[in-house]
Amino acid sequence: MDNLHISNHPLILHKITLLRDTHTEPKQFRELVRELAILLAYEATRDLSLRPQAVTTPMGLANGQRLEQKIGLVPILRAGLGMVEGIWEMMPHAEVWHMGFYRDERTLKPVAYYNRLPVGATVQLCLVLDPMLATGGSAVATVDILKQWGAQQIKYVGLIAAPEGVKRLQTAHPDVPIHVAVVDDHLNDIGYIVPGLGDAGDRQFGTG
Ligand code: PRP
Ligand code: URA
Repeated sequence: MDNLHISNHPLILHKITLLRDTHTEPKQFRELVRELAILLAYEATRDLSLRPQAVTTPMGLANGQRLEQKIGLVPILRAGLGMVEGIWEMMPHAEVWHMGFYRDERTLKPVAYYNRLPVGATVQLCLVLDPMLATGGSAVATVDILKQWGAQQIKYVGLIAAPEGVKRLQTAHPDVPIHVAVVDDHLNDIGYIVPGLGDAGDRQFGTG
């Protein structure tokens, strides 16, 4: 399906390789997540709509543009947190709406534990941020909630996906573009992406 965008940018592929490495410690891991998030968000926001806005320079008047939509960054806790800061620096006016899900280890189903969305959407475009698209359960549940909230446009930005997760998100929400660095081989029987990078939350926060 053409809503899957896999990056072939050399910087992204280089950094993903460092990220996967067992020897990469949490500090460098967090830096890489931050940098990869910026690069992937850059690609994912190529088609944002603009409105004309003239600007006065010291030399005269220039035809300029400004972003038209209000943007929301929606990190899925915990691992999505590491993707926020860098992207936020690129679009400081974005709102950040945290979405708390953990995966039940036995069923692999997402369990919701946090969201403070007000009644009625306050942004038009939501970028869902989560490094790992594994079964796709957390991403689908997040998009379900954002659509009920009234978000007009939603994009998923992640780092590593499993084919199973891509298929599940595409089936449930074919209108949501998926931007990832790579799609890996498969999910193992405990729901981990292979070869993946292990547990993205634990590797960022030094837990586990
Ligand atoms: C991880 C990851 C995703 C989810 C992906 O979170 O950060 O949110 O798993 O899996 P899925 O596609 O099968 O839903 P986890 O439940 O480990 O929580 P954590 O980020 O708090 O460690
Ligand atoms: N969550 C992770 O952090 N890693 C995986 O491989 C799958 C889900």
